[in-house]
Amino acid sequence: MPRVELRDIATEAEKAAVMGLRRGPGQDRYLGSMTSHFEDAAAEPRAKPRMWSVHHREQLVGFVMISDGIKELDDDLVGPYYLWRLLIDERFQGRGYGAATIDAVVDYLRGRPDASVLWTSCAAGDGSPQPFYLRYGFVRTGDVKWDEDLLRLDLGAGREDVSCPSIPATSDRPTPRNGSSTS
Ligand SMILES: CC(C)(COP(=O)(O)OP(=O)(O)OC[C@H]1O[C@@H](n2cnc3c(N)ncnc32)[C@H](O)[C@@H]1OP(=O)(O)O)[C@@H](O)C(=O)NCCC(=O)NCCS
Repeated sequence: MPRVELRDIATEAEKAAVMGLRRGPGQDRYLGSMTSHFEDAAAEPRAKPRMWSVHHREQLVGFVMISDGIKELDDDLVGPYYLWRLLIDERFQGRGYGAATIDAVVDYLRGRPDASVLWTSCAAGDGSPQPFYLRYGFVRTGDVKWDEDLLRLDLGAGREDVSCPSIPATSDRPTPRNGSSTS
């Protein structure tokens, strides 16, 4: 299994690089554009957006954004820790980088307060990435949030402990909260 490195997106050049990441055919049904991720992060500071570029060695392979410790939850927010957006560039999918990115997020969360669960949400359907999350160890909660299945990963459990198979986000829809266009 590869390991990846999460890097802050601090400069215009680094932002421009992640803006070049691409979804594969049909994947826009489950994840909005790179532009929407930045717009949604800017529009919802209450959701505590934290984003990184994802690198394997020196190769940029993806992008991930979480809600990083929401202080006050309400019906429009899930957290305190929520996997909000995740994209592995279409050229690099299927090589273990998606799972490795969640590994890296989980490692990061081990140093964060009250980080017992990583939440995400994902719609089911043809071509949905939901099986990827279930394969990793997320479980369906039975709840639906923003028309997506709400999933949770208990951070005490390793990836091998889980039984398989579940989320998405509709592309480019306005999201004044940390759901949709998800993870
Ligand atoms: C979903 C996504 C992040 C997965 O990343 P990836 O690097 O391709 O996945 P990995 O190679 O790490 O796969 C890990 C495991 O999940 C499985 N898997 C990955 N995508 C899957 C899918 N769509 N359906 C079923 N299984 C899937 C892999 O087969 C692999 O299984 P294994 O451990 O038995 O070998 C990536 O495909 C992606 O960015 N898709 C477009 C954007 C998107 O949908 N993001 C999520 C929004 S909710």
